[in-house]
This record gives sequence, C-alpha cells and structure tokens, in this order.
Amino acid sequence: MVADKLIAPGARILALLSPRGMPRETYGHARELVLVDREPVAADADVVSFVFAHPRGAVLRTWWPGAHLDVVLPSGRMRQYSLCGDPDDPFHYRIAVRRIPGGSGSIELHEELRPGMRVGFRGPRNAFPLSLTGHLGTSPRLRFVAGGIGITPILGMVRAADRAGADWSLIYTGRHRDSLPFLDELAGYGDRVTVRTDDIDGLPTGEDLVPQPDSELAVYVCGPPALLDVVAARVAHVPGLEFHHERFAPPPIVDGQPFTVQWGGGGPVLEVPADRSVLSVVAETDPAVSYSCRQGFCATCKVRVLAGTVEHRDTVLDAAQRAQGDMLICVSRGLPGQRLVLDAGPARRADTVG
Ligand code: FES
Repeated sequence: MVADKLIAPGARILALLSPRGMPRETYGHARELVLVDREPVAADADVVSFVFAHPRGAVLRTWWPGAHLDVVLPSGRMRQYSLCGDPDDPFHYRIAVRRIPGGSGSIELHEELRPGMRVGFRGPRNAFPLSLTGHLGTSPRLRFVAGGIGITPILGMVRAADRAGADWSLIYTGRHRDSLPFLDELAGYGDRVTVRTDDIDGLPTGEDLVPQPDSELAVYVCGPPALLDVVAARVAHVPGLEFHHERFAPPPIVDGQPFTVQWGGGGPVLEVPADRSVLSVVAETDPAVSYSCRQGFCATCKVRVLAGTVEHRDTVLDAAQRAQGDMLICVSRGLPGQRLVLDAGPARRADTVG
C-alpha cells in the first residue's frame, strides 16, 4: 500500500510516539487538528485512515472505544467519524473513511485532505460506549459484529477487551476481502476473529453472527441496517442479554406526516413527505447544510425555528433549548399541514466548533 504522509517514510512510528516527551499542554482547548498521516487501510484502497494531532503536539482529550469525532471539512461541512486508533495514545486521533461515490464528505476527505492541513473538530463524544463490566456489574462475554467500515468503532473495543483479558470474539463481514479495512491489524488476534465475506460464504444468518445468545453475553454491532436487523432479530427476547448497536443510516421515520418548511425567512418553501426528514429535503436544495449523526443525538443540524410548531424527536435538546426555538432537523418534524420557517444560517456555519 502507498501511504501519504506528512513525515518522511520510515519515520512514522517514531513520529507517532515521540510526542510523549514533549511538554504537555492542557487538553481540550484545541479547535483544530492537523493531519499528520493518511494511508489506505483496505486492499481496494477505498478506505483511507487519517491520523490527526494537536497543532502544537499537545495532549488531546482522552476517549474510550465507541467514541466519535465531529470533523469540519475544508468546505465547512461537518461529518462524524468513529475513532479507531489507540485510546492509550494521548497525542493522536485516527479515523477511517470509506470513499462513497456521490458522498460529499468522503470524497472531500479522500481528494482534498493532505498531511499538514488543518481541520476543525468537536469532541470526542461517545454514543456507543463499550462496557467491560456490563449492566449487572459482572464481566459478560463480548460478541462484536462488524460490517465493512463498521469495524471502526469495534476496532478500539476489540483492543480494549483484549487488553482487559475479557472473553471476546469478533465476526467481521463484508462483500469481499478486498473491501475490508484493518485486516492486517486484526490478524494478530488469531481465531478470536472470524472474517466472513458474502462472495464466498453468502449472507450471514443470525446464528452465524451470534452463535450463542444468552444472559451472559453482551453484543456490540456496527454496520449497515440489514446487518443490524439480522442481529436484532437473533437476540430479541433473550433475557439479560445486552445489545448495543450503532447505525450507519438514519432510523426509519415512524408515524411521519407531511408538512412544509421554509428554509430561511424568504427562502424556498419545501415539501417534507411523511417518510423523509427535514434534513434530507433541505440538503437537496442546500448541500452545505451541516449534519453528522442523522439520528438526533449530536446536535450538528440544530437550527432556530422562526415560526411554526415543532414535534421534537431528538434525545439531546433540553426544555429551555426547545422553548427558545431550537430544532434538530434530522429527526424532528413539523405538524401535519403546517409550515415551519427555519433560520438557515446556523446550520451552515462551521464556527460552532470547539
Ligand atoms: S445530525 Fe446529529 S442531531 Fe441531527
């Protein structure tokens, strides 16, 4: 594989480790990160890892497996990526991004971001935390299930589980081996890791993914919706089993009703069908609109409502924020037949990072 680095070939490992000897600054104040390394991490080269550091080499805020970073791209768009490096490395954040044809964020990262460039960021935050003690305070067996680029949050979990001496296993699925990132890193875990690809093995069943669902098990899944659905069906109704998952796609809209939005006072009036979000409709007109999780928990898509009543469906805005007119347009909706007038400004600015 060809790596594209800020530092000289052969110096990468040293460069990643040497900041431990540098004076430590208080972490948490950085608003920008500098890209210090990028390299393909799948055989088909469609997945690239990006390693960031503090611009002055300072210590970064700590994180725990399952955490993600909100990254502000050069265009000002914000996107959310799981951290997949080593949580014990206080000087670097690593993400990995699959190039999605037509995907504005991934194309921009792949084609424009080069070592030495700076990006804004927010986080890390964790909506998918690994628990090694489980909800009962005991140590469950851990079953990790990853589909394709869904390996990114799972990679750190595997590392933490192994270091802790936990009883864990991973099944890693995808269309074909060339599309799967980080196979080299996972090879070191031996037969705890099963790689299964659709071209050779066919689509996995629930039994393949979770062979032994019982009350001693905690399942962590990240991957495409179809994979989550198979695992969810497999573990449903198993008393005591822990089921943790992270979705790639927005959840389906339940009990949606059509309404209209006006994107900015005097802006275009858009119809929001029952089965679509405000965000998805607005993004067709305004591709620069900011969003990240698309699931109502990161607040990246927050806008101010200028007129109309909101049906809030998020999990983060408190009563005061709702009362002052904040709305998360990836999940929350207007009332049937009503028009919501939204302030288009805040959702397009990149200066909310920090
Ligand atoms: S994009 Fe994360 S809350 Fe809307």
